[in-house]
Amino acid sequence: MKYFFFLFFLCELSTTAEAQSPDFHRQVDSVLNLMTLDEKIGQLNQLSGKEEATGPLSGGSNLLTDIRTGKVGSLLNARGAKRTRELQMLAMESRLKIPLLFGLDVIHGYRTTLPIPLAESCSWDLRLMEQSARLAAIQAASSGIHWTFAPMVDISRDPRWGRVMEAAGEDPYLGSEIAKARVKGFQGKGLGHTDAVMACAKSFAAYGAPVGGRDYGSVDMSDRTLWQVYLPPFKAALDAGAATFMNGLNDLNGIPVTGNQYLQRDILKGRWSFKGFIVSDWGSVREMIAHGYAKDNYDAAAKAISAGCDMDMEGKCYAGDLAQAVKDGKVPVELINDAVSRILYKKFEMGLFDDPYRYCDEKRESQTFNDPQNKAIARDVARKSIVLLKNERDILPLSNTVKTIALIGPLANSKKDMSGSWNVRWPEDNAVTVYDGLTKRLGDKVKVSYEKGCDVSDTSRAGFKSALSMARQSDIIIVSVGETKEMSGEAKSRSDITIPDVQEELVKQLCASGKPVIVLISAGRPLVFNWIADNVPVVLYTWWLGDEAGNAIADVLFGDYNPSAKLTMTFPASVGQIPVFYNYYSTGRPASTVKGSNNNYRTGYIDLDFNPKYPFGYGLSYTSFKYSNLSLSDTSFKNDQSINVSFRLTNTGHRFGEEIVQLYIRDKVASVVQPVKALKGFQKVKLGPGESTQVNFKIDRAALSIYNQNLEEVVEPGDFDIMIGASSADIRLQSKIHVIL
Ligand code: GLC
Repeated sequence: MKYFFFLFFLCELSTTAEAQSPDFHRQVDSVLNLMTLDEKIGQLNQLSGKEEATGPLSGGSNLLTDIRTGKVGSLLNARGAKRTRELQMLAMESRLKIPLLFGLDVIHGYRTTLPIPLAESCSWDLRLMEQSARLAAIQAASSGIHWTFAPMVDISRDPRWGRVMEAAGEDPYLGSEIAKARVKGFQGKGLGHTDAVMACAKSFAAYGAPVGGRDYGSVDMSDRTLWQVYLPPFKAALDAGAATFMNGLNDLNGIPVTGNQYLQRDILKGRWSFKGFIVSDWGSVREMIAHGYAKDNYDAAAKAISAGCDMDMEGKCYAGDLAQAVKDGKVPVELINDAVSRILYKKFEMGLFDDPYRYCDEKRESQTFNDPQNKAIARDVARKSIVLLKNERDILPLSNTVKTIALIGPLANSKKDMSGSWNVRWPEDNAVTVYDGLTKRLGDKVKVSYEKGCDVSDTSRAGFKSALSMARQSDIIIVSVGETKEMSGEAKSRSDITIPDVQEELVKQLCASGKPVIVLISAGRPLVFNWIADNVPVVLYTWWLGDEAGNAIADVLFGDYNPSAKLTMTFPASVGQIPVFYNYYSTGRPASTVKGSNNNYRTGYIDLDFNPKYPFGYGLSYTSFKYSNLSLSDTSFKNDQSINVSFRLTNTGHRFGEEIVQLYIRDKVASVVQPVKALKGFQKVKLGPGESTQVNFKIDRAALSIYNQNLEEVVEPGDFDIMIGASSADIRLQSKIHVIL
């Protein structure tokens, strides 16, 4: 068995070597040849800077001494050109002077905080997301950071899970496109350029599907769903050149992913020929003991390295026990050499052996931090992330005749909450709040008065009275409600994602004033807010939009920007409906999606309509679009000849606008039950008032393929529905094709 594994491992090494630079390989080998076993294991050890722990610290090491003695290959949570230079200087005191890699969670911006990734995904604007990752990379790379632990590419179908904020929503196709854009943005023109950071596709794999939405919980999933839904964004990140992968804190079908040979050796490094390295999640090697999958640190270290995990993040199992496991013959030294080579290769590729300080440049750091473009990019990304959910009587955009605005709510003037969780923690908060944004835009032409009204969760209603009296004296009421930034993110799963009662009650009382009410919902996840959705005339989902939040919201409220974003996660009507997503597998007793229909003996709930509150792909604009004239270049797909689908899109309103048009396909009869529809294409089309254009989609093999029972990606003959929609639930044009093979 061991011998077989070793052969497999050698084959894997040979494919790995092929596409890479022989020069770097020679250099890696020359360093490897000089290294003692302890020095090799040092390269596999990643420790956290104590000042900013992002997980439970395990203690037991002296960071500075460990760096000086070559016992650390990488640090996380140390940042800033000055600090990273000081630490790198310590590494230069070690015997072989191997430079450190500095990693950090640059999740949504570095010095400039950008919208949370889930918000940004609602722009469906790949160029924009690439640009925002680029901005983050430029700033981070000037500040000593070589490596971001992003993008998170986990598909998220359960908004109770707090980390939905970090990913790109529920759809594998859109998630894959976004994964590519983000990897490209982070890695720019390529590793080695001083404005590029290594991307890290995480958390490999299926971390986004923990039971009950509880962070760190088990994932029990069919191979079919794994391949068809959860793995595609990882493959896309790899194809875009992601330098590294992170495994995770979950188990998948009983095997912790950190010790999962199937995922790491068989799929990622085997079938997909991944040439970079895999880092564990924080402490996840050691946590295999708590999972009941490893007996002790020694066993955990042996299992993780054998499964393909190259670097141990803050687990200290490799540092403590791997050398002994090699000496005992439990772990072949070739596995260590392979892991070390993968890491050293990246250090060469980043140019760190030529100049270990090339990314810690205080002058460049200050330039990148203060570049006037930063704010403009952040504002553009933020306004393109805002989803208009409801706009009765065309209350928005607000006209310049509004003279008095009552701005109310616990999040209307909260700087800290605009940045959202998982931002880089800077001592001062730069965010523009809604209050700042409105007052700045309106100057003294409009009176903006502000009252908090209540807190996010505290049940006190003491502030209602003054908020209400202020509201009564205003032309319009804007209320900002939702979650604080501490309510979503890692370890922030919630069992109840409804808007806290106190906030809903405040909105109810404000509505009773008879004045027009606009609700802004800031959150890190889809929330449930049925009363607001059903009774308030205007609702904007404003997520956590980062530094430029208030300016972006003002842009949308006054029509300087016409909202174009569409939801990338289905919004449930009730917590009991979760997990809820548009691309569910067909059932033998489908529910009617027509509201109010009798669904007896049909899938669904007896106490709830089948439909979610807002479907995937939904979002309004200040203008309207007409879809017409669907035409297909052929109705038969044969010999792999792609089919062109085209239709006419017309802006039928009075404003310039952008429409995200969506192509869905349904495989009618397949060897494995298929989703009721699956997104296979989208475009964001810009049109002036009255303008119209022809939109084209190409249907190729990839758009028609499925995973069969043997997990082979195949196209099967038969009929396929072709649907063009304004959302997953608003199909405007429909046709069929027939696949002949
Ligand atoms: C965490 C997260 C991971 C992150 C890492 C480092 O526990 O799960 O996503 O990159 O620690 O901060």
